[in-house]
Amino acid sequence: MHEFSVIQVAKKQETDAELANKVINLCQRRGIIVQSCEIYGSHAGFFDYGPLGAQLKRNLENNWWNAFVTGREDVVGVDGAIVSPRALWKASGHLDSFNDPLVECKKCGLRSRADHLVEDELKINVDGLSTAHLQELVHEHKLKCPKCKGELLPIRTFNLMFKTHVGATADEATEVYLRPETAQLIFANYKLVQFVSRKQLPFGIAQIGKAFRNEIAPRNFVFRCREFSQMEIEYFIHPAKLDDCPLLSADLLDTKMVLFTQENQEKKAEPKKTSLRDALDKKIIGTRWHAYWLAASHEWLVSLGLSALKLRLRQHTKDELSHYSSETWDVEYEYPWGWKELMGIANRTDFDLKQHAKASGKDLSYHDQATNEKVVPFVIEPSLGVDRLLFTLLMDAYCEKGEGGEAKTLLSLSPKIAPVFVSVFPLMKKDGLAEKARDIFLDLKQQGFAAEYDEGGSIGRRYARADEAGTPYCITIDYDSLKDDTVTLRERDSGKQERIGLKDVACALHKKL
Ligand code: GAP
Repeated sequence: MHEFSVIQVAKKQETDAELANKVINLCQRRGIIVQSCEIYGSHAGFFDYGPLGAQLKRNLENNWWNAFVTGREDVVGVDGAIVSPRALWKASGHLDSFNDPLVECKKCGLRSRADHLVEDELKINVDGLSTAHLQELVHEHKLKCPKCKGELLPIRTFNLMFKTHVGATADEATEVYLRPETAQLIFANYKLVQFVSRKQLPFGIAQIGKAFRNEIAPRNFVFRCREFSQMEIEYFIHPAKLDDCPLLSADLLDTKMVLFTQENQEKKAEPKKTSLRDALDKKIIGTRWHAYWLAASHEWLVSLGLSALKLRLRQHTKDELSHYSSETWDVEYEYPWGWKELMGIANRTDFDLKQHAKASGKDLSYHDQATNEKVVPFVIEPSLGVDRLLFTLLMDAYCEKGEGGEAKTLLSLSPKIAPVFVSVFPLMKKDGLAEKARDIFLDLKQQGFAAEYDEGGSIGRRYARADEAGTPYCITIDYDSLKDDTVTLRERDSGKQERIGLKDVACALHKKL
């Protein structure tokens, strides 16, 4: 938990729906995230990031990459193409199975996502329900079209992939798809990457990049959009060694997390705080490597400042498992619209590598030098949407200081990811203050700090502007600074100010990173 936890408690007073709207308004007001191509009125589900948003997104991606790729010896990174041939998506199963349940109105033709319609109309959580079960609910409750109250046609499936063709001929040979997950490019390149990186099992391949899904109903801002970025790791493990996980330390095993198991969901029982040790002993979590990636993912999310009280791990029910998965856990966050998936951690077994080996005719097995045997590795996959995480962090960090019309917005973002780390203000523009402040600002920039300079308006207004952008530290240069080379360093959440020597500024800021 970072040092700004006091503010996080205060913001719990927000009513949920209000909170989401306030964050969306803030994103629009400060150009953090806006509807894409607004001047022409674009399609729903596409967004553009302004300067603050782009930097925040980059900081998140860099933090993840440092934690899971450069910071480890067992994971390497790749960057695959976005467009890939039909054959890849046929083999991966996406062409046949990457579908959402679609329901259409007989009268007005409105198309809705069946699970969303049932959830909205009946005010129940439908996670884990099969299409057949959704159809039963539509039938049983005589649900109608949300727009014209017309009768609904039977639920059918809708494939979420965007299709196009390469070159001037449009036939099956030129048919390509925008990737709906980054993972498949990792599987397709697995053999090459393993060879060039000389990694032995277990090892991971990570990727950050765009994914596209033609969502029937994009909603909740960037929570569910049609173009988004994913950060994914495919972690390859010897199939006989899924429980041989040296990284699962005693500390991690004792970590307690809120688990919402398949069994609890079926019995309509409450989620329960459980240690990983207990969950493994009772076979609630299938393998130790899966448990490790659940703990490592949870730990990283909390290290960004996300409130652990709003996180839980929900196991996919049998009906809801993706076509490639034998076991999946979602890290869920308590959103204003209920507990929903923030990220997923699946056991993809050897499904993908076997499918691609079969379809391409290439040998994708691994030669285990210790036993001189050929095996097809199993895969544990932690998969996370950057945009969804960013929005979650903004909602988690949003709070207001003061009452009523006087209330000022503050984003209590962790200094590790805040788009601007320090803002530099001259008390006045005159008498050499601005020049001195600019020198300090440029010096901080040269030293690699994400610094900003602001001389517009009263000092109070400048603090408010910085707080709203989530800037954790501000430095003010005043008349004393000219005499004794000291400045005021202000901390965002507590409002605490300290006077420090100019020569100590960089060192003090480094310590806060
Ligand atoms: N490779 C596995 C996979 O893609 P997923 O649960 O479909 O699994 C992984 O997606 C993560 O990607 C989700 O947990 C979420 O964070 C993000 N994500 C999925 N669909 C999204 C959408 N339409 N908009 C924004 N983020 C999305």
